[in-house]
Amino acid sequence: MIGPRPAEEQRLARLVRAHNRWRGREVFNLLPSENALSPTARRYLGSDLAGRYTLPLQSVFHGEQIDNSYAGTRYADQIEALANAAAARLFHGRFASTKPLSGHIAALAVLAPLVPRRSKILAIPPSEGGYDGYAPGYLPAVLDYLVRPLPARAGTGIVSAEEAVAEIRRERPNAVLLGQSFFLFPYPLREIAEAAHAQEALVLYDASHVLGLVAGGEFQDPLAEGADVVFGSTHKSFPGPQGGLLVTDREDLFAQIDGALVWRVLDNAHWHRIAALAQTLLELERWGKEYAQTVVANAQALGRALADRSAPVVAADRGFTRSHQVHLAPEELRRQWGIGPGAAARRWEKQGLITDLVGRLGTAEVARLGLVPVDMDRLADLLVRSGRDGTSVRSEVRSWRQQFPRLKFL
Ligand SMILES: Cc1ncc(COP(=O)(O)O)c(C=O)c1O
Repeated sequence: MIGPRPAEEQRLARLVRAHNRWRGREVFNLLPSENALSPTARRYLGSDLAGRYTLPLQSVFHGEQIDNSYAGTRYADQIEALANAAAARLFHGRFASTKPLSGHIAALAVLAPLVPRRSKILAIPPSEGGYDGYAPGYLPAVLDYLVRPLPARAGTGIVSAEEAVAEIRRERPNAVLLGQSFFLFPYPLREIAEAAHAQEALVLYDASHVLGLVAGGEFQDPLAEGADVVFGSTHKSFPGPQGGLLVTDREDLFAQIDGALVWRVLDNAHWHRIAALAQTLLELERWGKEYAQTVVANAQALGRALADRSAPVVAADRGFTRSHQVHLAPEELRRQWGIGPGAAARRWEKQGLITDLVGRLGTAEVARLGLVPVDMDRLADLLVRSGRDGTSVRSEVRSWRQQFPRLKFL
């Protein structure tokens, strides 16, 4: 069609522009589940790869041997190989796949082939910070598992070695599924793995939230500490495109996972995403350490600065956090501020401070913008004044945000 664009297209263009301006330039993003992509990775997301297929497979089609369902894949296939090799290096495994389309799909890709139907798995319940997807009605229902709770401390989600080991010995699960959405502290993984492996249970580590910190060597090294497979989202503390990956040292497990990925879990794996992910993996090889150190130091400083203003931050006795997350205790917040975390988040949103509605604050994206621990005092001050007192801090937030026009780690 030649001529002016239809109204709905114009409206769509306005919405995308408005979103980009608002979320990309005017606010501080404190969502622990999100991050900012480098300009190069963003460019790859918009590349020609976005519309392509490749499906390498050895097959006989009507008497003819073929090695891919599609032609035109010579570069896409090399990009995938490059991404997988970078993921294996960064997470210290021998085998990796960057095919999973998200963290949830990575979990499915690992569980479906490795843990048979009617298995018993141990997972941290959502009430103690575990991922909702592992609660009985969700992935376990799809895969027909019995899921039993792996105990974690209420309020902080901390897992104790003694309790976890005792539960593993009592329940005798087929797999122990670690990983939390509310994720503050590393696990006693060596003890858990030893107990699980003594009973031939697999240890599967969902690093969705902490993947960027693992990449930078600032959390725990799941495969070195005994996990059989590490997997997760590539867009939370890991500053990549929305997607997932998985890594293992075990050839036998990888063969099962890889063999089941295409057609049981997905078909086309979205090659623009994999190019952007490869770029982020390579970037983290350059500056991942400094990035992850800044993210964790920011989170600890934000916890301290909020607590200094009497905000109810959990795990004060443990230095608040070892990850990119800081947690506000919901009941305590309601008692002190007269509002819960949901209402506080709506107040903050109006001021240009974007958080989730469940009491988590994340420091990954602000670290990418260039905020460092000394800035956390000012950030805490803005959060408390606007959240607790209802003071308008919008113009101060906006003018402070303008001082960070470019990402720091490139
Ligand atoms: C621990 C954990 N695993 C998996 C997921 C799912 O990740 P995705 O949104 O990439 O599918 C989440 C989502 O927040 C999560 O917190």
